[in-house]
Amino acid sequence: MFKDIQKEEVMMHDDILEHTSQDDTRTLIRDKKVQMWGKENELSVEAEYPKTIMFEVTNACNLACKMCYHKDMKRKVGFMTEELYRKVITEAKELGIENVALYTTGEAFIHPKIFEFITIAKEAGMKYVYITTNGQLLNEDKIMKLLNSGLDSIKFSIDSGAKESYEFIRVNAKWDTLVKNMQLLRKLRDERKAKLGIFASFVIMKENYDDLLNYNNVFGKLVDQTLFNIVSNQGSQVDDSSLPPEIDSKLEDIRLPKEKWKPCNLLWNRFIVNYDGTLTVCCVDFEAKLTYGDLNTSTLKECWNNDKLKSLRKIHLEKNFGMLPMCHDCDRIKMDTELRKSLLSEVLRLNNLS
Ligand SMILES: C[S@@+](CC[C@H](N)C(=O)[O-])C[C@H]1O[C@@H](n2cnc3c(N)ncnc32)[C@H](O)[C@@H]1O
Ligand code: SF4
Repeated sequence: MFKDIQKEEVMMHDDILEHTSQDDTRTLIRDKKVQMWGKENELSVEAEYPKTIMFEVTNACNLACKMCYHKDMKRKVGFMTEELYRKVITEAKELGIENVALYTTGEAFIHPKIFEFITIAKEAGMKYVYITTNGQLLNEDKIMKLLNSGLDSIKFSIDSGAKESYEFIRVNAKWDTLVKNMQLLRKLRDERKAKLGIFASFVIMKENYDDLLNYNNVFGKLVDQTLFNIVSNQGSQVDDSSLPPEIDSKLEDIRLPKEKWKPCNLLWNRFIVNYDGTLTVCCVDFEAKLTYGDLNTSTLKECWNNDKLKSLRKIHLEKNFGMLPMCHDCDRIKMDTELRKSLLSEVLRLNNLS
């Protein structure tokens, strides 16, 4: 059953993985006009409406993962209201948006209405609704709710293949809880022949590099597919001390000279809505530094080509990245993506994962 739908679903989640891990080659292929950095010359300051919207349903998180900026976030923690969410979903549907991601900077399952939010998006006719999660807050009751909610896929951020490294990297998380939840979800999904896709992500860093060899023995049978990537600086916000030496030593070769850095496709291919209704161009904008609109006082349609967003796109097109917080040194824009992809493939091949 999953063979038929898997490719598209993996693409969806892959696209989102790349916001933190910069693999543009897997960017959402459905957004034909604005998708790939390789088609930079087709981009202009005005853009067609995108097919994807991401919601920061909350910026609260239950963990303090080593590689993630969240633990340093100074922005006030908050939760999106159902009223705002419904308004934005209605506008999104009118604009032809099809894909809804219910997470950006925080942990979606902390939101008390997360299951209602999934159902609201599906009832509005959204084609693809998906969540990335640390998986720690699920239990049998919530797993049943998930299976009944209409969610199209869930991706577990695992980033390890053993209890010790998992609990070291994902501070406050319990390995046994993750494995138990994933086992139960897989069992119940298969028994009920539910259509939910189950994916995982593994962000490679020095603390988990040695887990790669054993990863599939533990998680291979629990997920439809795992997406591997290399740890990033999350929009210039975290340092690169987590890079494994096996990768770090080769990264210099795949960094582009400054004049060849690429505009970031996130400014063209999605809406990203913060919990308070402000719009940002980046889904790891933990401090809301790159905002360009407010959906409490305006609509998605009014904001998409507003002066602020057009000026941000112009800065990217003119490669004046130094003018912007986060973008000025972001991994997403400064790597040769083909070489980066080859490096990742080589790492996976060496670890029997390709
Ligand atoms: C910011 S988290 C938010 C969703 C949820 N809390 C989770 O952990 O899945 C989204 C994704 O970012 C990844 N991530 C966090 N820090 C990263 C970094 N420095 N480089 C690459 N990916 C990172 C996580 O592994 C996770 O898959
Ligand atoms: S990676 Fe996810 S779970 Fe970990 S601290 Fe960041 S937001 Fe929280």
